Amino acid sequence: MESTEDQASTSELLDEIARLRRERNAVILAHYYQIPAIQDLADVCGDSLALAQAARRTEAEVIVFAGVNFMADTAKILNPNKTVVVPDIEAGCSLADDCPGEEFASFRKKHADHVAVSYINCSIEVKAHSDLVCTSSNAQTIIESIPRSKKILFAPDINLGRYLMHKTGRDMLLWNAVCVVHDVYREEDLLRLKAEHPEAEVLAHPECRESILRHADLIGSTSKIIEHGAASKAPAAIIATESGVIHQMSKRAPSKLFIPMPGESPDAACSVCPYMRLNTVEKLRDCLRDLQPRIEVDSRLGERALAPIERMLALST
Ligand code: 13P
Ligand code: SF4
Repeated sequence: MESTEDQASTSELLDEIARLRRERNAVILAHYYQIPAIQDLADVCGDSLALAQAARRTEAEVIVFAGVNFMADTAKILNPNKTVVVPDIEAGCSLADDCPGEEFASFRKKHADHVAVSYINCSIEVKAHSDLVCTSSNAQTIIESIPRSKKILFAPDINLGRYLMHKTGRDMLLWNAVCVVHDVYREEDLLRLKAEHPEAEVLAHPECRESILRHADLIGSTSKIIEHGAASKAPAAIIATESGVIHQMSKRAPSKLFIPMPGESPDAACSVCPYMRLNTVEKLRDCLRDLQPRIEVDSRLGERALAPIERMLALST
């Protein structure tokens, strides 16, 4: 419970953000893995695809991206003439880190007869060397848009790649990187939670291993998990994704029980993305005030990365 003093300073901070947002003609985009206070103050809160779509249609002069860098990079690639700022420039992603641009370029060159599909959780360099980009919410559609006669390579998430192979029946050459949040869920923890809550559904993100996905009632993007979790008649749900999504589900279905999967360490009651959680309301205020840290993208690289992003957006409703 916040003290009266804390409440006053939080409300001053929120007032300052509201004023700066107006003065800067800024839009605040936030991912569902942000802390609840950031989700609540955002103009748009969404999954990776919804945020890319919002970045594309915004008329604001400044985009404040409360998420991780690959998402802010995408917003900048779509808006080379706008100012894109982030609360914390250290907010990376293990998938992007484990797929260096040069290594991906030579992998791609070695398999030049393959269509290269990259998951949006990757660097600008990797996108620039790809034919198509996808997110967790449109990945199946993107893969199915490729003629069956074509060979496909997919990077960087091996768990999502394997899931897509299973869903589409397509054989794909996979890069080997994982998400540090989803790849560490243990099947024994899930089985224990299922035994403790037999009435609960299991909702999982496709970045999880197969040992988790095989128990899932729903596999989908963060927005799919939120929609299903809030709408389904089941009284409880075990959430196999970053626990930030629970904020949205609890708002929409306050009487339901949402049980987060435990994090990597035995005492981590719920799983959080160490990169996403670098952002704070104070840092968000600071970046809006200082217009720093700012996302800069080399214009030639940005143009090359734009083409596969545009192809993805054209295939997504
Ligand atoms: P979504 O596109 O489903 O929001 O996922 C983003 C992400 O980083 C998952 O870890
Ligand atoms: Fe990257 Fe995983 Fe964090 Fe998503 S949850 S941003 S995939 S590290």
